[in-house]
Formats: sequence, C-alpha cells, structure tokens
Amino acid sequence: MCGIVGIIGRGPAAPLLLDALKRLEYRGYDSAGIATVDADGTLTRARAAGKLRNLEGVLNGAMPGGSTGIGHTRWATHGAPTEANAHPHLASPVAVVHNGIIENFRALRTALAAKGVSFSSETDTETIAHLLAANLQTEADLKAALVETVAALEGAYSLAFAFEGQPGTLAAARRGSPLAIGNGPDGIMIGSDAIALAPFCDDIIYLEDGDIAILSAGKADIFDSTGAAVSRPAMPVPMEVSVAEKGNFRHFMAKEIHEQPEVLTHTISHYVDVAAGTLRPDRIDLDFSKISRISITACGTAYIAGLVARHWFEAFGGIAVDLDMASEYRYRSQLMPKDELALVISQSGETADTLASLRKAKAAGQRVAAVVNVRSSTMAREADLVLPTLAGIEIGVASTKAFVCQLATLACVAIKAGMDRGTLSESAAAALVGDLIEVPRLVSEAIRLEADLTRTARLIAPASTALYIGRGPSYGIALEGALKLKELSYIHAEGYAAGELKHGPIALVDDTVPVVVVAPHDAFFAKTVSNMEEVAARGGRIIVMTDAAGAAEMGEGSAETIVMPTAPAMAAPMVSAIPMQLLAYHAAVLNGTDVDQPRNLAKSVTVE
Ligand code: G6P
Repeated sequence: MCGIVGIIGRGPAAPLLLDALKRLEYRGYDSAGIATVDADGTLTRARAAGKLRNLEGVLNGAMPGGSTGIGHTRWATHGAPTEANAHPHLASPVAVVHNGIIENFRALRTALAAKGVSFSSETDTETIAHLLAANLQTEADLKAALVETVAALEGAYSLAFAFEGQPGTLAAARRGSPLAIGNGPDGIMIGSDAIALAPFCDDIIYLEDGDIAILSAGKADIFDSTGAAVSRPAMPVPMEVSVAEKGNFRHFMAKEIHEQPEVLTHTISHYVDVAAGTLRPDRIDLDFSKISRISITACGTAYIAGLVARHWFEAFGGIAVDLDMASEYRYRSQLMPKDELALVISQSGETADTLASLRKAKAAGQRVAAVVNVRSSTMAREADLVLPTLAGIEIGVASTKAFVCQLATLACVAIKAGMDRGTLSESAAAALVGDLIEVPRLVSEAIRLEADLTRTARLIAPASTALYIGRGPSYGIALEGALKLKELSYIHAEGYAAGELKHGPIALVDDTVPVVVVAPHDAFFAKTVSNMEEVAARGGRIIVMTDAAGAAEMGEGSAETIVMPTAPAMAAPMVSAIPMQLLAYHAAVLNGTDVDQPRNLAKSVTVE
C-alpha cells in the first residue's frame, strides 16, 4: 500500500526520506522513489522497481543533494510496478507523489494530450503533475494553482509536491486518504501516517479532508479547498507507536472508519486493473465454469458480508449459494459435493468455528477459498486459495474496514463467476468494475455525513431497543447496523428483513423505539417504504437512510432522513455500511461504553 513522505530539512533530505519510507514498508509496496531539490533549485529524481534496497542501490554513491524532497512507496494501481510508473512523477517544475485513485484521470489525460502534453507513464498520478504545471502558468500563485488543480480531481487521494527552482517549498493536499505534517529537530515533514513521522517529529498536524498545505522551513500554511486559511491543531507525538496509530482519533474504531476509502482503494486495486477498468482474473484462481455451487461460511460481521455477497453470486454468476454461520455449518449433515466451492470469510483468519468449517470442507474433498485479512493466519495457511482483503491491521473489536473490504473482494469474485459462467457479458462486467472503482470516493462522501449522524445518534442513545430494517442487499446492512449498535452501545437491537417485520417484531414498536430503515433508491425501495409506513402508523420513530432520489420520492415527512451519496446498486451496501458504523459509534460514545473493546467481546474468537 502506498506511502508518502516529504521533508524540508536542515541537512541532506535523501537519507531522511529513505529512513521515513522504511517505516512505511509494513504497508506493502512494489516500487519506490524520491525527488530532492538542492540549494540551486536543481531537482533530482531516483526511482526503482521492487523494494527500497533497490532504490538504495540506485542511490549508492550518488545520494542527491538538497535538503528539500519527497518520497514514495507505490502499491501499483494504474500500470505495472515498473520504474517508469514509480513515483515521483514530473512535469517541470512539479514533482508529485500520490496515494489513492484519480477517477477522472482518463478525461484529464485526454484533455492534456489534446494540448500537446506527452506522458511517460501509465499512471493517473502523472496527470496531476501536468495539471499543476499548467495551472502554475495561468494562476497568480502556488496556492491558486493548487486550488485549481485539486478542484479538477475526482476520487480519493493524498498528494505531496516538490518544485524545481524552489528549495525550501513543499505542498500537500488530501481528500479521502490520510496525510499528516510533523515538525521536529530535522525539519518539517509530510507523512501518510504518523508511524513514518514519529521518530523525527515532536508534534503532528493531521490534515482534514479537502485541505491544501504549503510548507516552508519550519512552517505549514493550511487552506481549505477554496483557498481560505484554516488552522488545524498540532498534537504531540505519542510515545508508543500503537497510540500513534490512533492519530487524532479518540478511538481506533473512529480511525478505522475513516481509513475505509484508502483501504478500499488498496483492496479494489488488488483485484482490478484500475487504469484498464478490468478485473485481474489471475488474482482469483477459480474457474467457476467447473463449480456447481458455493457454500459460504463465516461468523459475525464476516457472515453478513457473505449474506450480501450471496445476492451478487446469484445475480452476476447465476450460481446457487448456501450460506451458513460457521458454528452451525460445522455440525450440519449437509451434502458436500466435490465440485462445490467452500468459501470462508474471516478478518482474523483464526475464528475457531470458521476454521473448523474450513477443515470440514477440506476433509470432504472440497476446494476451499478463504477471504482473509491477516495473511499469516491459520486460515490463510490452510486454505487452498487465499483471497486477501487489504484492510491493514484492524484493532477495534467491532469490524469496520475489514467488512467493506470483504464486500469489495466478494464483489470481484462474483464478477469473475459471471465472466467464467457466461452470465455477465464483457460490457456488463466492465460496468460493474467501473462501479466498484467509484466505491472509495462514495465511501469518503458517506463519511462526511458524520456530523449529521452524530446528531441522529442522540435519538438512539437513550433507547432500550432499536430495530433496523432493509430489503435485498440492504437487509444485510440492516443486520450489520443492529449488530454494531448492540455490540458497541449495549442497546438491544434487531436487524430484520423489512418484509418480515410484520411477522413479529412490529409488536415491539412504540414511540420509544427508533426504527432505522436502510432504503437506497433501488429495486426494493417502494416495498421498503411501504414497510416503513406500517411502522410509522404505529408511532415508531423512523430514521431513514436513503439517497437523493429516495429522499425526493418520500418528500417531507416526520422521519429523520440521512441522505447518503447516490451509488450504483453494487456499491450501495458498502456506502450504506458507513452510516451504520457512525451511528453505532456515536451512540456508544454518548453512552460512555468502551468502544474499542466492548465488554464480553473479543477481536479474534479462537474458542468455539
Ligand atoms: C468477533 C468480532 C467481529 C467479527 C467476528 C468474526 O465477533 O467481534 O467483529 O466479525 O468475530 O471474526 P473474523 O476474524 O472471523 O472475521
């Protein structure tokens, strides 16, 4: 996964950039590079495919001078992990390093090419360098050119810039992906996380979404996306790395919720060639034309990911799916044909019931694929095929970022199933992949609803019971919303299929019971709204999560409405998951529970 560093130092920048990049190695990467600017303003770039030692090999004996510079470890998304695609990318006088995905890079690249720009890489990043170089010629100053440049970018990203002819100046910007600025004895630094900066800095400023920063020796001027000056608090660097990882968030769970656009980018770009807009079939070593059915087995939130994915396997792959909680699966006397694929889903890869299910399927001679987050886990070792989620270390006991990454991974596997079985045309598969590429940005927009959801959480926090309803894929999200609320805030919550409400739980409804309705404007919308009306008629306090089209169709009413970003059908569950997490998180904070380690719960359940 990509890492960004930058420094305006008091001594040579290159060795410090390399040291800081080494601290980001844990994120995983496949090429690296630096660019430095010396006292005369000469910009020197060095890049290498592969590990940092290759870059050190390139720099050996030829360490570039200059105390200003930027560096990057790249996790390939657009284009192969070659030296030509490695960052920094240049368009005189600009050098840029970038994390994330620029969704509209093709349109930007075409427009720049029409103006005579030629490109030396396949990356989306290079368009940013050319765009800023062009804007520097037409705009009054660096700030105006940066505002103009980021306004043209769509997607989730963090950026750091150095400039030929300008020793002692760096710039940075972020939307979706994290970025921090640190100050210390060696100078002022930029880093994609606190871990890169911790040993070098006394204090750290976390940029907020939409922020632009211009750094000069010892100081950072920060602006919002319109160019208006803003101030962001500097925080002391915590002593322990584990604390440093929490950044300026109060809880790991909050941090992990906010990391979702970034980790989704990593996960999606593992399975998708983002530049080509196509699936990477070699990353999913399964031939679904030879598979008769799938059995999905998991626990907790991972089970819910399976429940949502069943819709995709059926709709895209035309394949029958059995779904079981692992604690049930392992003791059933089910038929286990050899041409059935056993698919287990687990963040930790250690959950005892899921592991037992994996072993049961293997013993029956089935091929087992494991969607896991921890690559060194037992499930990853024992499965025939590992389908990794690239969510990074998840510390909050209640799974958040691993869940959305499980969904993204399963969506890719379901698209592969449709392609193998001929139930998805090439263009239909390409359209779904295109929808998936939009997910990090949509999730980032959903996270921006946090202030609204904090207010809505006040309606939920005092309740003793809450209901969550949804249909189709949103039924799974309703289950996840209820699970999150009960595990974090200890409020009794039930997730129900909206159509099933009248077969029991509607008896619970009175004016003390909040009913959260997950209703994006999809094929199920009208029916879900009818079920919502049944609740409203009985005095239930409705909180509806919909999108702009849904809100317009429902019109003004007494329901509390959260308007989520408009998302394509396949992206919608990943987007709707965000308000569920934020609502539960803020209700728990209001109720003063231990958010990261709720009572009685464990992150990795290794007992039956
Ligand atoms: C525990 C966690 C849940 C998680 C479940 C399954 O209950 O609290 O957040 O969904 O285990 O864990 P796994 O590691 O198998 O995904």
